Amino acid sequence: MIFELEKYKTTEVTKVSTWYRAAPVDAFPENGGACIKYKDLQIAIFNFARRKEWYACQNLCPHKMQMALSRGMIGSDADEPKVACPFHKKTFSLKSGKNLNGETCDIATYPIKIEDGYVFVGFEE
Ligand code: FES
Repeated sequence: MIFELEKYKTTEVTKVSTWYRAAPVDAFPENGGACIKYKDLQIAIFNFARRKEWYACQNLCPHKMQMALSRGMIGSDADEPKVACPFHKKTFSLKSGKNLNGETCDIATYPIKIEDGYVFVGFEE
């Protein structure tokens, strides 16, 4: 199962080679998330309307390896946007992927952009 985690790598916007057209903007609930597939990856996408921001990260929660983060509650800790896994509430930064509880490993985050009413996620390959 650790192998599953290794498929997810935080991607810097400068390294993006493929902008994957995920879905129309209105497929994503305001202030909530939804999951898309890219190759063999499951990516959680969040329409953080309260902040007028979008975020993408791995859907896989590294705590007990549940495909769950897209169903997590999103919120802000000071200026830090975060998602809490619905299973045991481990919390991760949506910007850096850092585990904010300090006990589980971090998650991978991906660049995201909105163009012509569609959500695009950036991948290195
Ligand atoms: S599986 Fe996500 S917090 Fe436990």
